[in-house]
Amino acid sequence: MNSPHPPPVPVVLDVDTGVDDALALLLAATHPALDIKAVTCAAGNVSLAQVVDNTLGVLAIARRADVPVGAGAEGPLVGRPRDASHIHGANGLGDITLPAHGRAPVAVHAVELLRQTLEESSEPLTIIALAPLTNIALLLRMYPSSREKIARIVFMGGAIGTGNITAVAEFNVWADPEAAAVVLDSGVPTLMYGLEPFYAATCDQDAIDALAASSQPAAHLAAALLGYLTAGRGEEGRVPGGHAPLGDAGTVCAVIDPTILTVVDAPVDVALAPGRTRGQTIVDLRRSPVGTAGTPASVGVVAAVDVARCRDLFVGTLS
Ligand code: RIB
Ligand code: CA
Repeated sequence: MNSPHPPPVPVVLDVDTGVDDALALLLAATHPALDIKAVTCAAGNVSLAQVVDNTLGVLAIARRADVPVGAGAEGPLVGRPRDASHIHGANGLGDITLPAHGRAPVAVHAVELLRQTLEESSEPLTIIALAPLTNIALLLRMYPSSREKIARIVFMGGAIGTGNITAVAEFNVWADPEAAAVVLDSGVPTLMYGLEPFYAATCDQDAIDALAASSQPAAHLAAALLGYLTAGRGEEGRVPGGHAPLGDAGTVCAVIDPTILTVVDAPVDVALAPGRTRGQTIVDLRRSPVGTAGTPASVGVVAAVDVARCRDLFVGTLS
């Protein structure tokens, strides 16, 4: 008899746990279609130490203290760390205080944890990257053979159009543009979940209320995090009033159910030159881009997402 469900997809998540990474972790830790092998942390929304503490705390709420967590990059490959605490609050979780988790990250660096996890896996893993791509770039440069054990990289980053941290750049790519360029040039199958789906997939107040009414601690935390996000904090106009963007959690939805996505294949370049465009992702949507010999390889770019199905997936899983 055919099994009613396909086997779970083995994944690792790379996070800079802020509010929306926390939503993504809650979903990934709960949904049966994913088998989280490890979570790795990078500085981004807040400092590395705060990211690690937030990540361990969120996994504890999701009752997944079995998942190993690694501490990785404290900043970008080039330049100094720049955070997004103006969006995520001083502690990165909308100033929501989690219970003590009593755990520590593994003793090895996150890149080593990634290498070990890939090596030990019987099948290639999907890397769900929700942070600046420093850890992933370091993995690809330090251990090029690890590419054979990566099924694909699904990353939240970049934008086809308007940025968020600048007029043209999205935060994860802006925070470490060189790392993004390494990943995009790697030849590993890659899906770019940029700001278009990032802001399109939202939860409305009914969805937040449904999560708050659940008996599940993970649902309660999700409701509190979404409630924080409804305030906008400088991102007004990107989502309907009173809605909360699912953000990084939409990236996890995209791995659980790719049929909610509209994807186009396109060359994607990253602007590295100093100045106002640094960190911009240049997505060439021309039907047959006639570029120079250096035209970057094509990646999958999420152009749109089925908002209702994404929301239902998130709320239905957690509540
Ligand atoms: O630009 C949004 C992205 O940057 C999200 O992943 C958010 O968590 C921050 O990392
Ligand atoms: Ca993130």
